Amino acid sequence: MMKNYIDKLFFRFNKNKLDEIYGVYNKQKIKKINLLLNMGRFEEILPLNKSTQDRLPYYLQFFKKIFAITGKPNSIIDLACGLNPLAFPFMGLEKINYLAMDISPDSVRVVNQYFKKNRIKGKAKIIDLRKAIDLRKNIFLVKADICFLFEFIDLVGLAVDKKMFESINCPWIVVTFPRTIKQDDLRFQRKIDFEDSFDKIIFRSFLLGKEKVYILNKNLYKQTTILA
Ligand SMILES: C[S@@+](CC[C@H](N)C(=O)[O-])C[C@H]1O[C@@H](n2cnc3c(N)ncnc32)[C@H](O)[C@@H]1O
Repeated sequence: MMKNYIDKLFFRFNKNKLDEIYGVYNKQKIKKINLLLNMGRFEEILPLNKSTQDRLPYYLQFFKKIFAITGKPNSIIDLACGLNPLAFPFMGLEKINYLAMDISPDSVRVVNQYFKKNRIKGKAKIIDLRKAIDLRKNIFLVKADICFLFEFIDLVGLAVDKKMFESINCPWIVVTFPRTIKQDDLRFQRKIDFEDSFDKIIFRSFLLGKEKVYILNKNLYKQTTILA
């Protein structure tokens, strides 16, 4: 089923964008990633994905700024994770429980190998976040201190609604958008819709590098009528 989905994507999208948006890597890139994984040169894998490559110059500052607001987490859920879990050394965390999820079997495999090789208490799983039912089944019961949702909401419209946010069992949710989306792009509208829908629970936001970062605090729901 996942294969059909990916096949369809190949028809619908510019092939060059596929790894950037859907974590579909070509054979050459997979070979290179495997080699780097085997040699333990993990930091050299980060530039092979657009989001992690863009973030490289400011990864340290990125997590420092986020955790200065949320506190250092003991547990993380990283949704549509891509290769972001490989940026773990930039997080400045010691003990962690890391649950990573993505639709891309390649990304999930790489992340699992990375966790294993570095003895990080983590697990990566394949998930299609557009399916709210799957989401509730997989995530609802999992509790964590913080949820990352980096550079994903602009890609999909449907599933990212209040119900999805309610089903994320974390007090802090960090959402980012690429700041380079043009105003006439549908993805820009999704950013505006997101700001409108979650305005009341946006605790802090800032611009850093190529990203706009929103830090949401779900406890603010309790103080508002937003769920009504
Ligand atoms: C732009 S990348 C961002 C990756 C990562 N969050 C980061 O910022 O480094 C988008 C990610 O979303 C994943 N993705 C796309 N559609 C998805 C879906 N329906 N469910 C889960 N993940 C999805 C892709 O595989 C890709 O890893």
